[in-house]
Formats: sequence, structure tokens, C-alpha cells
Amino acid sequence: MCGIVGYVGERPARELLLEGLRQLEYRGYDSAGISVIAEGQIDAVRAVGNLSALQEKLDGPVSPREGVAPVALAAKPATTGIGHTRWATHGRVSEKNAHPHSDSADRVHVVVNGIVENYMALKERLAATGSVFTSETDAEVIAHLIAEHYDGDLAEAVRAAYIELEGHFAFVAMTLEEPDVLVGARKECPLIVGRGEDEQFVASAVPAFLAHTRRVQFIDNGEIVTLRPDEVTITTPAGEPVERPVQTVDWDPETAQKGGFETFMLKEIHEQADALAETISDRTARATGVDLDDEGALEESILAGARRIVIVACGTAYHAGVVGRYAIEEWARLPVELDIASEYRYRNPVVGPSDLVIGISQSGETADTLAAMRLARERGATVLAITNTMGSQATREADGVLFTRAGLEIGVAATKTFVCQVAVMYLLGLRLAELRQTLARERIAELVAEIKHLPNAIAELIRACGSRAEAIADTCWDSDFFLYIGRHIGLPVALEGALKLKEISYISADAYAAGEMKHGPIALLDEGTPVVCVATQSPVLDKLVSNIQEARARGARVIAVVTAGDTVVEPHVDAMLPVPASDWMLQPILAVIPLQLLAYAVARRRGLNVDQPRNLAKTVTVE
Ligand code: AGP
Repeated sequence: MCGIVGYVGERPARELLLEGLRQLEYRGYDSAGISVIAEGQIDAVRAVGNLSALQEKLDGPVSPREGVAPVALAAKPATTGIGHTRWATHGRVSEKNAHPHSDSADRVHVVVNGIVENYMALKERLAATGSVFTSETDAEVIAHLIAEHYDGDLAEAVRAAYIELEGHFAFVAMTLEEPDVLVGARKECPLIVGRGEDEQFVASAVPAFLAHTRRVQFIDNGEIVTLRPDEVTITTPAGEPVERPVQTVDWDPETAQKGGFETFMLKEIHEQADALAETISDRTARATGVDLDDEGALEESILAGARRIVIVACGTAYHAGVVGRYAIEEWARLPVELDIASEYRYRNPVVGPSDLVIGISQSGETADTLAAMRLARERGATVLAITNTMGSQATREADGVLFTRAGLEIGVAATKTFVCQVAVMYLLGLRLAELRQTLARERIAELVAEIKHLPNAIAELIRACGSRAEAIADTCWDSDFFLYIGRHIGLPVALEGALKLKEISYISADAYAAGEMKHGPIALLDEGTPVVCVATQSPVLDKLVSNIQEARARGARVIAVVTAGDTVVEPHVDAMLPVPASDWMLQPILAVIPLQLLAYAVARRRGLNVDQPRNLAKTVTVE
């Protein structure tokens, strides 16, 4: 998840671009860069680190190694430019991987957010006809592709390039040949135009230009937008014109950073389809299986040779690990041990060279998870980190890394990172199954197809589920206790649902394996106690229905997450939150979303600050 910005107009572009990037820095800060056109020259300056590093470089002396002239860039009255702040996905955090990227002749510059899935094939083709690539990124291919198609009309070249690109992305391009033109394109990732008087802005999010204009045009998927100082035109990739009214947003700067959502948590809940698409994209490009050969990943022979898997994590990441245990055991038939990192590290665990220990951590900085990983490594185990944060400590303490690509998560309550962690666990389970030949190839292909469909299913679910969760919250927001139950893959969802409620609403909640209810927690039930039950499709659904009946017989009010089309659970519950159908093992990724929304609606009714719940911190670097 990167931030992109563009300006074309009459004012000096450099400051406007930097100001825009400052507003987008929450989208990533691994590196940043800008390119501007002035007096027949394109100047680019890129720097590793956050915007201060870029600013320093712009203010500093000329850097001959960069091959550009930042002093000229500072001095010239360039009025057209593009900028980028990076959250690395493909390619290390380095200056050569920082955007803007350019073609071999340095005449086309681009800034890109997202992933180009077919970049390897395009890169090979372009290299064969003379393109010289200078970065490890997927994004650079766009600059070369536009240059290949360029014949005097940038918009035309972008349309031709767009048709060849697969993946989900948004980008803005400019060329020396047309110094007062910017062309942007959108496929899944956001792109918004800000309309000014004789000047236009384009960016990943409104805050980038909110200080200058509130008049916006939201670019839709599959649209190409051309910006000149005095006009903006939108077309389809085939060149057909698109009419898009100019809207006026009345957002204050803070609302704008939240993309119009009232909180970061709600925004991040809504980003889950995109985040999941990024996480699975290239890894599921092969219809018949999964590829986990990212840079920095473990060698396949190590995966194939593991005799046992041990998963260590804390909080939400631990719940993703629980889903992982079910998936790996079910598909790859490998024994999986799972522990809370703060327990594991002091347990004197039996672990050694034939074990693969997986540390899951969004931040990659959680002290307990790091300590557990370190201990396992000291005892000879191979350690794999699953994290959302490039350059984090977890990446340095592990033998291999798999990144979730959820983008920056600001809300303290993890939402989109959980969904992405679960997705990586599924991918790992399937890859292990492939390597160990424990699942039929047809079954693997079927599951890969189902996983690829999940981003769409999430988008559909979020559209439909919000008002249902609100209506249910109206009936239970003032309860002082909730019980969450689930069985098998429903159990981690129940655990995560209860954690979300506790964290942001401060309501006491317990989560139990449904079969355990009769061994104690059932005593907590009273007339009207809300019991939230994860009752999606599974081979143990009938057992769960019996547990629901036991709860209801004690007067509990049962709220069930069910699979769309359910007729088995419905007669026994008071309220339902349906999720789209999928393979039953994949249901957790969908089932957690209504529970995030329910916790959210309850907390908001109680008037609480969900982004910064009391006593909590986003990253827990103390044990
Ligand atoms: C989740 O909502 C919490 N904020 C918390 O449980 C979190 O998942 C836990 O602290 C682990 O963090 P990590 O993923 O950064 O290691």
C-alpha cells in the first residue's frame, strides 16, 4: 500500500508534491521520491526512509550517483510532477527500488501503488527488445511498457499499456514529450482527482490535496484519466469517454486521512478485500498450486523437510495461528504445535533441528514473539516469520520471511492484518500439501480458485453486513457480558471476535470451544445473555447446533454467523449474520468480518474511541 500524488498547473510542483506526500505518509514510509519536468528535463530524487530523508536530499548538494540534479530540481520552476511514498512489497527497501521509476531513455516516469502480477512475463519481453531494468520492482515494468507504446500521445500509450497489465494497481505517468500532461489509471487501487483553477491534482487519497481543493472526481476501476492544467478527461481503456461529475467533499483533514470513514478501524475493515488481494495475488497466479518463492522466503527443501510445525504468536496473530494449525494438519498432514509466545518462551519447549517454527506478528516487533522465535532458533529449529512489516526485527531474527501485504494498520485493534495472516497460513498449508503430496492436485486447484475468489466475497460481505451488525448491536450494546463459541475452524474466529469486543468496547467476553461450555462457562448464562456463535458450514455443524440449543435453553440470546443459504442453524437462533459460501475450511476469513463489525457497532454505541482503546498499544515491545 503506497501513496501516489501528481500535480499539473502553474504553481511550483515540488512543494505541492512534498506536501501531498506528507498527508499520504501513513500509507508507507520505506522510501519516497518525486519527479518533476522543467525546461526540457525530467529530474527525479529518491531516498530511502521517510519524507525527511527525501527532504534532506532535496535540500542537499547535487548527488552525482543518482544521476540527477536535485539542486536544479529545487531551483527550476517545474509545474508538473509526480511523487510517491512506498510500502515495499516487491523488492527490498532501497533507493533503486524507490519510485518514481523510468524507462531506459528516462523519458517516461511513473509512480505506482499496488502489484503488477504479470510483471515477470512483461519484463522478459521488454528486456528482449532492449529495455534496461534498474530495479527489482514490479512497478518499473509500467514505465517501460508505456514507453514501448508511446507514439506522441501519453494517454493512448497508457491505455495500450493498461490492457496488458494484470493485477491490482493505480499509477500516474508523465513524459518529457508532453510536459503539461499527467495520465493516471486505476485497477482496484484508489485514485482520486482534485480539481483546481488552472491546476489539477491526482492522488491515492483526498488528504494529499485537500488544502488546495475540495472538488474531486473519484476514478473508477478500469478508467484512464488525463490531466492538463485546464482540463481533465476520463476514458475507458478502449478510449471511450466517461462522464464523471465533480463532487465537493466537506471532509476536515482528519476525516480525509480516514478516507471519509469515521475511524481508522472502520476504514481498515473496508480495506480487507484489497489487502487480501495483495497478499494472495502473485502467490496464487498458478491455477494448480501456490508459490511462496518471494525474495527472502525459506527454501522449498526446508519446507518439504519439516517434520513438525510450531506456531508462536500473541493476540490476534495467535488466533491466525490457530486457523493455520487446522489448515496445515488438514491439508499437509503435518503435526502442528501452537503456543502463545509469552508462554512458549518460558516453557523449556522440546524443539530442535527438524522443526519449522513460525512466528506470526503484524508489527514484527512484539517482544514475546521475538523471544520465542529466538529461543527456537538457538535450539536449532528453522524459523519463519510471517509479518506485515518490512525491515522489522522479526525479519532479522528469522531464516525466512513471508509478508502479509495489508498495508499500514493504524487502528490498535487488528482487522485487515488478521485476514491477511490467515490467508498466508492457508497458502502455506497448501504449499506444504503440494510438496508433501498429501492432497490431490484437483483439490489444491479447487482451493486455490476458492482463495482467489475471497477478495470479491469480502467486498460483497462488507456491503451487505454493516447494517445487520448495527441492528444486532442495538439489541445488545448495553450487555455486560458476551459468550463467544465455535468448534474446529470456528473456534479461532470466536476467540478473535471476543478479543475485538473486549479491546474496543471494554465489555467482558469469554470465548470457548463450544463443546467445553457444559464444563463450566454455561453457568454464566442468564436470561438474555448474548451468545455469539460461529456456525458456518463445517463437518461439526450439527454438534454446534446442539450447543446452541443448550445455551438457548438457559435463556441466552444467540447471534450466529452462518453460511449464506443456511437452513440448519436458523431455526435455533435469534439473529443471523450470513457470510458468502466458500469451502468450509476457508470460512474463517469471511466469518471474522461480521464479528469485527459487531464489536465496532457496540463500541460506537458506547461512545468509545475504537482507534485508541484504553491501556493498549499497537506494538507491544515489552514482555
Ligand atoms: C489485536 O487486535 C491486538 N492489538 C493484539 O492482540 C495484537 O494482535 C498482538 O499484540 C500481537 O501483535 P503483533 O501481531 O504485532 O505481534
